Amino acid sequence: MRDFERRNRHFDRLVNSRGLRWLGQNTNHLPAHPAVRDALTRSIEDEEFHVYAPPLGLEELRELIVADLGLDGVSSVITDGAIAGLYHTIHTLCRPGDELITTDPTWSWPMTFARSVGATVTQIPIYGDEYGYRLSPERLREAVSGATRIIYLVDPNNPLGCCCTAQEIEEIAEIARSADAYLIHDCTYRDFAHDHHLAARHYPERTITVWSFSKWLGFAGLRIGSLTAEPEIIEQLAAAPPNNLGSNIVAQRGAIAGLKVKSEWFPEVLATTRHNLGLIERTVEGIAGLRVPVTSSNGNFLIVECVEAGVRPEAICSVLSRHDVLVRQGSYHTKTFGDRFIKVSVSTPTEWVEEFCALLPQAIDEARGADADVSLY
Ligand SMILES: Cc1ncc(COP(=O)(O)O)c(C=O)c1O
Repeated sequence: MRDFERRNRHFDRLVNSRGLRWLGQNTNHLPAHPAVRDALTRSIEDEEFHVYAPPLGLEELRELIVADLGLDGVSSVITDGAIAGLYHTIHTLCRPGDELITTDPTWSWPMTFARSVGATVTQIPIYGDEYGYRLSPERLREAVSGATRIIYLVDPNNPLGCCCTAQEIEEIAEIARSADAYLIHDCTYRDFAHDHHLAARHYPERTITVWSFSKWLGFAGLRIGSLTAEPEIIEQLAAAPPNNLGSNIVAQRGAIAGLKVKSEWFPEVLATTRHNLGLIERTVEGIAGLRVPVTSSNGNFLIVECVEAGVRPEAICSVLSRHDVLVRQGSYHTKTFGDRFIKVSVSTPTEWVEEFCALLPQAIDEARGADADVSLY
């Protein structure tokens, strides 16, 4: 069987596993606010799905996104998930021979998009105590060159959970400006951060702020995200977008409802997420050879380093999958550092995380010396 078929069957198996504990994709499995469920069901009951949504999205939603980000003089476009916005931005802005700079680890798909248009990709390693598991602006400054077209900054970083300080963001924006590069600020996890700062405030003319509804609102399967930037950039992106017939209208109604109840509903999601992070941190402390190198994650996930325990991440994933627990092997994010860690996502019912914590010591023992016996993607 060809790999693309194997890969799809893998995900098909996951979504059809009824009891699966989804601790692997940073998705949010906490119950939706009733107002969000109502908006989704009302849209379906009214059979609103017969129409196309406006090309850039419902006006109310576009305005709510700009208001949530708190940016002035910008315009938003609704995309089919943040990933489609990233794909479109990179395809619109990158030419063969251009360079995209990002971190290692990063979220990998944008690198694949850049390479597919003939651009080169440079990664700045940030994994390791020597780097403090974060991007220092000085190292970015050393890396940029005349060929740098895009700086792709995942902040908070997936998978590490680090987040740039106000000072770092200001410097990164200044470096992007000095290189005349576009700065794609992927803020998919911003709502989980302890403190988050938008680069668009410092470099409005070429920053594209990417935001998703998959994580904070729990809409991964509804496919909705956004790009926000100055009108000159949005005009370029609006010229030939893949979703010119609009994004999912049901999802947009739900997203509007979600933004309206966000201040009331999300604090509880965040509290559960942080509580779950703490449970894992404490469990890991009690298992020889494991550690959480980035504590107090700014995302709804954390990494557990397992290299000192002599266990392969794939083997841990494989053992846990037999118990219906999905966690992610590091190699999904990085070739260089992927054999050192697993990633666990935690905006889920606390019981799922407790099950994971109870299984972990035994899973490490079983996985020691073993290899994965399932294909992982
Ligand atoms: C950093 C980052 N950006 C974008 C996405 C994709 O978001 P969406 O589900 O809105 O396409 C992900 C998904 O994991 C992500 O981690």
